[in-house]
Amino acid sequence: MSAVLSASDHGELTRSNDRDWWRQAVVYQVYPRSFADADGDGIGDLRGILSRADYLAALGVDAVWLSPFYPSELADGGYDVADYRDVDPRLGTLADFDELVAALHERGIRIVVDIVPNHTSDKHEWFQEALASGRGSAARERYIFREGTGPDGSEPPTDWTAAFGGSAWERVADGQWYLHSFAIEQPDLDWNHPEVREDFLRTLRFWSDRGVDGFRIDVAHMLTKDLRDPLPSAAELAAMPIDGTHPLLDRDDVHEIYAEWRRLFDSYDPPRTAVAEAWVATDRVPKYASPESLGQSFNFDLLRAGFDAAQFREIVTDNMSLAARSGSSSTWVLSNHDVFRHATRYALPLIEETDESVPNRHGGGWLEAGADETVIDRAGGVRRARAASMFLLGLPGSAYLYQGEELGLHEVAEIPANQRQDPTFFRTHQAQYGRDGCRVPLPWTRSGSSFGFGAGGAHLPQPSWFADSSVQAEEEDPSSTLSLYRRAIALRHELVADEDLEWVETGRDDVLHFRRPNGWEIVTVFGPMPFGLAPDSARRVVLSSAAIDGHLVPGETTVWLAGG
Ligand code: GLC
Repeated sequence: MSAVLSASDHGELTRSNDRDWWRQAVVYQVYPRSFADADGDGIGDLRGILSRADYLAALGVDAVWLSPFYPSELADGGYDVADYRDVDPRLGTLADFDELVAALHERGIRIVVDIVPNHTSDKHEWFQEALASGRGSAARERYIFREGTGPDGSEPPTDWTAAFGGSAWERVADGQWYLHSFAIEQPDLDWNHPEVREDFLRTLRFWSDRGVDGFRIDVAHMLTKDLRDPLPSAAELAAMPIDGTHPLLDRDDVHEIYAEWRRLFDSYDPPRTAVAEAWVATDRVPKYASPESLGQSFNFDLLRAGFDAAQFREIVTDNMSLAARSGSSSTWVLSNHDVFRHATRYALPLIEETDESVPNRHGGGWLEAGADETVIDRAGGVRRARAASMFLLGLPGSAYLYQGEELGLHEVAEIPANQRQDPTFFRTHQAQYGRDGCRVPLPWTRSGSSFGFGAGGAHLPQPSWFADSSVQAEEEDPSSTLSLYRRAIALRHELVADEDLEWVETGRDDVLHFRRPNGWEIVTVFGPMPFGLAPDSARRVVLSSAAIDGHLVPGETTVWLAGG
């Protein structure tokens, strides 16, 4: 047995003596506005999460990561933060937050909050002050203001595009332009400014003092920028290597900030943890994950891969060696609030190997807006998603789960244009659906208002098929995805031991088999054909799809064989 809390140990956390709780934690991401709505206004809230604390405990997760719950105009789903040290009144109060922390801690669940340091909301008091104070003012120096180009300065300073489409610059009333790498309502901060640095330290202390156990750092690779004139064009930027010297991305000097944050985190007992959301080349990840920096970094490789044995094996091998190099543990992610749910990615038709830029397996593609949804193989997608999730939960390192994946939820594609919220949809002139489909409020009950999400409606429309994927329906069914996740997470506390694995050759290209140091074995069949196991099936403790005869593992299925 490992020293990690087991699902049945839901007593008060022995918090001071477990500095390494995060290394192999199951972390469950809650998108607060879509989890549970206690006050019936259609928007999920902190008391809603509180009301589901027992659900989280029954799932057996080690930690909950809350996406932003701060005051926000919701130009980007809460990642446009107007005040970093408060709760959005629609979501509750600081007192509700304290109650939630206490309720989770009582159940042995840690809490991680999201910090968004690259940009504020345009409603943040600093940006309002910058607008009111005018060009050349000290208030503008906290952001990135520049004069425009063209005879009257009416052209943006450069031709850079924002992540959600359109220009990365926006003009203000007096004619200056400001940089926004994301939505117009998300002005980028200037991290050379000492007040910016000081204020984020204050924010990290504020939440640490309130009992938060860790932080997820939003776009951690973009904070520092070299914006000396002349600014390069988009084409010039694209041609520059991203090797620590790029003007905008993954600059080496960003780690000075994290070294300072690390000193703050380590002043707490146990030290506060942090995980970087850094979309950087795999070999640059260790910089963010080192103990002197944030300590852990997301690895999005599985999330970007197809459902394919060769890709999965290479990703696991590479990332484990990277984690070992940095002194961190590996992280595994299949879904989050920014991507199509993996059940749906794996439900899309196979992509042939003709285009080398996309994986040739289920999961390589995305559903374009207006695409023919009848091509989605819903049952197949869920079967593969269950197999992939059980593969992931068997790996050494931390598993990051996204709310609803434990129900095997599909992406919701059927959202009318006038109810969509994601800026991606609008800034791409509706060419891309964006991320609303994975943010639809969760179904808790088979029927009733908003499927038990709350007493009112749901801020994004829920489809009728949510009934059968509701928590209520799945709790009654021992073969449901929820039952599978509960069982696997409870057992995972027995299989986590040393952060190591050994591959066992299977003789088949589409089957992966690995053994953990304590003897637990995980076998995943990626192809449709069953795979014969050695005749010790008594050790089968988790099977991601319906059993077939004898010692066969069905196609597109993962099995766990208990150790010893
Ligand atoms: C991160 C978040 C995403 C957000 C973006 C800008 O990628 O995960 O939801 O839109 O940062 O803050």
